[in-house]
Amino acid sequence: MVDITFDPSQCVKCGACVRVCPMGHLVMTDAGPDVGRGGCMGCLQCAAICPRDAVRADGKRATVPESFDSLEALVMSRRSVRSFKPEPPDRKTIQWALDRANYAPSGKNQRSHRFTVVYGREAVEAVRQTALDYCRQSGFAPELPKLAEKGVDPVTCGAPVLIFCWSPRDSVNPGTDSVLALETAELLLVSRGVGTCWAGYMRRLADRSPALREKLGVPENCAVDCCLMAGRPAGGGFVNIPARPPAEAIWVDR
Ligand SMILES: Cc1cc2nc3c(=O)[nH]c(=O)nc-3n(C[C@H](O)[C@H](O)[C@H](O)COP(=O)(O)O)c2cc1C
Repeated sequence: MVDITFDPSQCVKCGACVRVCPMGHLVMTDAGPDVGRGGCMGCLQCAAICPRDAVRADGKRATVPESFDSLEALVMSRRSVRSFKPEPPDRKTIQWALDRANYAPSGKNQRSHRFTVVYGREAVEAVRQTALDYCRQSGFAPELPKLAEKGVDPVTCGAPVLIFCWSPRDSVNPGTDSVLALETAELLLVSRGVGTCWAGYMRRLADRSPALREKLGVPENCAVDCCLMAGRPAGGGFVNIPARPPAEAIWVDR
């Protein structure tokens, strides 16, 4: 777990970090932001958004983007967006990214994945309500209806678009192909100014709920592999790149 502290000589208590904290664990106190309520997942959205670079993660400060090769810059500066403008990005941009995602690697070149795009706030809200109904009826993820009552929505974050990717369970690499395709689409969307956030809650609910599967057009023999929220980001964007540890890798040389 990442130890998050705030440099009091830099923090101006603007509250940006509190607003961006995905699960509402960060609170503002007289002494400044406090992560004491627990449950912090170390995503470092607080460090990415802080205009004063006051957040320290295990004592390390975030870096302001400098000059990177453009792909490296895209990979490092992408952050999960959870605050969206209500109008969806145009359909052409989304279709362009999905078409290009067909160039992602795919086991045996099967490209068996299919997308379902839920387009527009009204359509997304209908899907969210169906998902919450499923939670209430089945007891799955009981925290979600409770969070919804408090106005917290980690399922869709108010996004105007959801992109689901699904594939037959008996394809060569079910899941992997879909994730590669959707991640390719994600990076392309981000490169065109669309904000994104993976939607694990929604994926699990869509895979389980018969009503959602029907709404999304997912056949019986297919698994819902992944889901992405997308939309134009609202408000000020991220200005820093949070410190992430180096990769833990085992190197086998002989
Ligand atoms: C498979 C997967 C599922 C996720 N599900 C959710 C989700 O349901 N709701 C949410 O707000 N964020 C979700 N996230 C976003 C992660 O919390 C986020 O990627 C992580 O904290 C790192 O932050 P960053 O994307 O800004 O670097 C998910 C990410 C992944 C990869």
